[in-house]
Amino acid sequence: MNHSSRETDMKSGIDPTMIKKDFPILKKKMNGKPLIYLDSAATSQKPKEVIDAITEYYENYNANIHRGIYKIAETATEKYIESKRKLARFIGAGKFEEIIYVRNTTEAINLVALTWGMSNIKKGDRILISEMEHHSNIVPWQMLAKRKGAVLDYIKMDNNMEGLSEQSLREQIEKGPKMLAITHVSNVLGSINDVKRITKLAKKEGTTVLIDGAQSAPHMPVDVRAIGCDFFALSGHKMLGPTGIGALYGKTELLESMEPLFGGGDMIKSVAFDSYTPNDLPWKFEAGTSNIEGGIALGTAVDYLERIGMENIRGHEKELTAYALERLAKINGLKVFGYGRADIEKRGGVVSFSLDKIHPHDVSAVFDSFGIAIRAGHHCAMPLVRGIFKVGALSRMSFYLYNDKSDIDSAIDAIGSVKKVFKVK
Ligand SMILES: Cc1ncc(COP(=O)(O)O)c(C=O)c1O
Repeated sequence: MNHSSRETDMKSGIDPTMIKKDFPILKKKMNGKPLIYLDSAATSQKPKEVIDAITEYYENYNANIHRGIYKIAETATEKYIESKRKLARFIGAGKFEEIIYVRNTTEAINLVALTWGMSNIKKGDRILISEMEHHSNIVPWQMLAKRKGAVLDYIKMDNNMEGLSEQSLREQIEKGPKMLAITHVSNVLGSINDVKRITKLAKKEGTTVLIDGAQSAPHMPVDVRAIGCDFFALSGHKMLGPTGIGALYGKTELLESMEPLFGGGDMIKSVAFDSYTPNDLPWKFEAGTSNIEGGIALGTAVDYLERIGMENIRGHEKELTAYALERLAKINGLKVFGYGRADIEKRGGVVSFSLDKIHPHDVSAVFDSFGIAIRAGHHCAMPLVRGIFKVGALSRMSFYLYNDKSDIDSAIDAIGSVKKVFKVK
């Protein structure tokens, strides 16, 4: 990287050159080239201290939580609860009891659909989502609507296919849906929905609101109480944590009113031959032995993110995205989807593009040969990509705190090589 681009990278208060050193995988090679990882929207890389937290648990205090009256079981229990306290603080929740650990965002949304949804949605009720949702925030509601005979409505994309149509948003909310489930940040376009304002509009109609925070919690400050939502779902693996751990935030009164999803150990206070009494929050929703090391290591990931600062991370990704958009705009035959550079405030660090008639899998394969990881496909948003954009697949670069402008420069060079290989100008 040249000196001037290093300075610009550090405007946000982040020095990606230093940060990269914390991530062992970023010292590796892919196809003989230094790995350049531009697929953090799919899953993030993990800093050494998160990896170490897992080893430390198994080497020093591996024991089941809640049950043991001995030192290492107490340590495991304390650390697991402590990680919930950290996550609660990180997303602005009131208390750790409002944090339910699940496997990922998908499970968090399904939990709400299967518990709150099964008790509260009746025949003919409306459920509202948007056209830019990930399959994880579409299919659970399709399943619920089918089971209950409810109507599933979609907030339409705007005419430029960048964000949501304000008119459609207002019209749909005025219909008084029972549930509004909407993404905070699109994993295809990077478009940021103003979920605070949208929640306020929905609340006037008495609608229960769930925010899919899979692409926001890792990348920007989040405050669930300021947003005013009832539920917020996130995945640990997208925010420097391990796979297999995610969280559902829910308001206490709602979580208390809901039936448990799974029955078994830990989720009960007492069991008789003919009945059971559910446990207190959050354990009521965590049946069986938890992903203990996953929860603890997610707490370590939160420590890491807080040390860097979420405002800094957001600022850094904004700079990288603006830089990428500026460079991509100069490439013939390349089309970027979503908001342009002038609307950078409405955009997260996700850039999807198409390149002439070259298939995104071919684009991705050439990138791979240069050691650059990007994603190609429908990005688990087939209704948007295939139904609205009318393309089979898109290439997608996504940025995180460990990326710098030289990573983007390498990607731009790789696009030049793709064009050469496929003989397009
Ligand atoms: C916006 C959005 N929602 C939900 C998900 C699902 O996340 P997970 O596979 O971790 O459940 C993703 C994953 O890419 C996503 O980007």
